Amino acid sequence: MKILIIGNGGREHALLWKLRQDSPAADFYITRGNGGTAGLATELPLDPTDLAALAGWAESQRVDLTVVGPEGPLAIGLADVFIRRGLPVFGPTKGAAAIESSKAYAKDLMQRAGVPTAKYQTFTDAAAATAYVRKHGAPIVVKASGLAAGKGAVVCTTEAEALEAIREMLSEGTFGEAGREVVVESFMEGEELSLFVLTDGHDVLPMIAAQDHKRIGEGDTGPNTGGMGAYAPVDRGGDALMDRVRREILLPTLAAMREDGRPFQGLLYAGLMLTADGPMVVEFNCRFGDPETQAVLPLLASSLLEPMLGIARGDTITTSSLSWKPGFALTTVLAAGGYPGPYEKGAEITIPGETLESEDLMVFHAGTARSPEGGLITTGGRVLAVTAVAPSLARAAERSRAAAASIRFAGKQFRRDIGWRELERHAGAP
Ligand code: GLY
Repeated sequence: MKILIIGNGGREHALLWKLRQDSPAADFYITRGNGGTAGLATELPLDPTDLAALAGWAESQRVDLTVVGPEGPLAIGLADVFIRRGLPVFGPTKGAAAIESSKAYAKDLMQRAGVPTAKYQTFTDAAAATAYVRKHGAPIVVKASGLAAGKGAVVCTTEAEALEAIREMLSEGTFGEAGREVVVESFMEGEELSLFVLTDGHDVLPMIAAQDHKRIGEGDTGPNTGGMGAYAPVDRGGDALMDRVRREILLPTLAAMREDGRPFQGLLYAGLMLTADGPMVVEFNCRFGDPETQAVLPLLASSLLEPMLGIARGDTITTSSLSWKPGFALTTVLAAGGYPGPYEKGAEITIPGETLESEDLMVFHAGTARSPEGGLITTGGRVLAVTAVAPSLARAAERSRAAAASIRFAGKQFRRDIGWRELERHAGAP
């Protein structure tokens, strides 16, 4: 079997790690790769957005499955090109990926489907958006409708911040095309949860819920990042909540997408807010989250490959649930100095022997590369993600933190408080 993974971050390293366990005899390929995927998969010097080259290569090599990590290639139609050529691909079409690539479409879909989400309005005109903010006041959220590399949602605590975000997006074009249309929505109070479901477009196969930590600073302070750490499972994401999310959110969303002629097949990521009125959708993404994937997949006992292959071949989901290992996984992200602003590259990385991968500790690579001398160097903002698996969340947190501390590179930064809300709850539990 030949499996191609598109993308080369920590999420893709985790996908590769899991799929290799599911099919040790398969041949794996990855676009570009990183310092951690080197040796696990053959690196292809192809750009993830060069759809014709990727499909041509996959056809010539008779690739059995292509798994798409990032949203960018999906938003420009990677799956459409593969499907037209009869190549099995795990990931939604461009039309279905609009659930992430157009926040305006996602909100309109949710409104039509009666899916609980914050009240909103969409604007292309700065004066109209300004008037709306003045009428509703702060706190309020301003979102670029298009893809903005995780930086397009601005939670504004004051009216002035909201007006500034509108000015930047609609008048100054700071976010380019992505910000030509904005969604202004009410602020939702609560705790966030990331829920991944594998879907054939009709039914869902839910994964355990995870929680991301988007701010750079401990105690959830400072600017937003792509995610500085995650843990799973989340106690609040138990069976009763999951049943409700399936009934009130996931199935109506999938039905509305089918009605729109955009059936969604692949991985649907529901970013939920657990409000006093129940779970509400903050956003949908059309792919696995990063770094939640690095926390969720180490706990998955059953095959990921099997349902992925079925969905990619157009089959309906037949298994009713995935099976999970007991315990908890906690992931700490190590970032380059300066991240999420401009950051340095090329720092030498040292991973001590005792921190190297074992059954309950994984070091997933994101922004790393092998140096010509064979060592490891930093190449990105988020450099590594260290996941520890343990019987308790507290133990997983300790191990992940200790491993993160033991890895060395100039400018390294990481949060020592990943999982803090849940850890406080566990500490307070009888
Ligand atoms: N962790 C947030 C995301 O993947 O979008």
